Amino acid sequence: MACSGLHKAETLNIFPTSFVHLNIASLHDTACKVAKMAIEHGPIDTPPRAPSPVHRFGTLAVHAGSPHDLVTGAVIEPISLSTTYAQSAVGHPVGQYEYVRSSNPNRHNFESCIAALEHAKYALAFSSGSATTATILQSLASGSHVVSTADVYGGTHRYFTQVAHAHGVRVTFTGSIVADVAKLIEDDTKLIWIETPSNPTLSLVDIRAVTDIAHRSGIMVVVDNTFLSPYIQNPLDHGADIVVHSVTKYINGHSDVLMGVAAFNSDSMFERLKFLQNAIGAVPSAFDCWLAHRGAKTLHLRAREASKNGLMVAQALEESPHVIAVNYPGLASNKDRKIALKQHRDGMGGGMLSFRIKGGKEAAENFCKTTQIFTLAESLGGVESLVELPASMTHMGIPRDQREAAGVFDDLVRISCGVEDGTDLVGDVRQALEKVMVLPKITNGLAQRNGNGNGHA
Ligand SMILES: Cc1ncc(COP(=O)(O)O)c(C=O)c1O
Repeated sequence: MACSGLHKAETLNIFPTSFVHLNIASLHDTACKVAKMAIEHGPIDTPPRAPSPVHRFGTLAVHAGSPHDLVTGAVIEPISLSTTYAQSAVGHPVGQYEYVRSSNPNRHNFESCIAALEHAKYALAFSSGSATTATILQSLASGSHVVSTADVYGGTHRYFTQVAHAHGVRVTFTGSIVADVAKLIEDDTKLIWIETPSNPTLSLVDIRAVTDIAHRSGIMVVVDNTFLSPYIQNPLDHGADIVVHSVTKYINGHSDVLMGVAAFNSDSMFERLKFLQNAIGAVPSAFDCWLAHRGAKTLHLRAREASKNGLMVAQALEESPHVIAVNYPGLASNKDRKIALKQHRDGMGGGMLSFRIKGGKEAAENFCKTTQIFTLAESLGGVESLVELPASMTHMGIPRDQREAAGVFDDLVRISCGVEDGTDLVGDVRQALEKVMVLPKITNGLAQRNGNGNGHA
């Protein structure tokens, strides 16, 4: 019996040549002996299989879409600022790029990274989360109908109600999509839009329950995964057709880039959205792609820490006598906890939460001015903790009756936990509640005039 396979190993150049030859020769003899034994004495034990080449999140975040520079060996990709690329003959670009709006190395690398993190075949980056939403809505034919969750991000609501009709797309909102979706589907319904967790009430939607109903009628389901990031939730694994992000939030994570991304598996969807990405031109700059890609490399570390902090702060708020209710899917008491356990990594709740403070709008405004670590500002998902009042800030554009039907009252405070020390965040929330709710009673209202705020209001 020939044992020729082993001779291939002689081409290895990782050991000095003489060492390789010596060992190859003896290995060859041993292998032939083992082969004879196997024939004479029956099968030998199967050696353990090599580990699967499928990598986990942290490894993908660091390495997906991050080739070393072939010319210099640079480990970190250079920023490619060129807007155009040389062609060796008409219609024959030297490499894979022609013109920056169509594609660019930094955008391509970022898209590859997000596709890997969202378990998608494709990802396409846009100049903002809102541009991503607009491009997907533009992909629908005039006359199309969309069903959406009611408590979507204010800008998404604005686009659905004030822009989409300009190209003939109608949107119906519902506060309980799983219960209502079957009834709301019409002949022209082409898309269902879900935000889970929703902004700002952190309600969860069972993605699988919605996609099962939608797919029976050939309707596509889009999930806005901005609030959790691909580290905590991968909507495509639960049946969604497209997952979108405001990259501005967790994926970039450092509050210094405006960008969006959509990830999906369908080849025809890729053709359509890639065409619109180029035709509409709402694309991010090379520098922003480079920054967002750098941010994505630490997403798992930041999302884990923010989620740990979110739980600590939510528990402290839940224990407080000054709080009416806490919206946080990581709490055992949360109405959607079962969905979180099914859809989120390790049942994590994420870094976002909201709560209703006793004392109405005034108390809510004072709370936001009194925190010392949480900065009063819009946005979320950065390394620094933020606090805001949705009814007066991010969701002001939604009419009061619709807003309140979705649980967005004037006393609702939204918090984005960053990656500071969780104990300090809990301490900050407690001192702010104390100053806003207890001190005015003791000092007959004089304490507030002394100004304990953080100066952001
Ligand atoms: C859930 C959600 N989706 C989409 C967007 C829009 O993203 P961008 O601000 O990047 O346009 C936001 C912005 O806050 C958001 O919170």
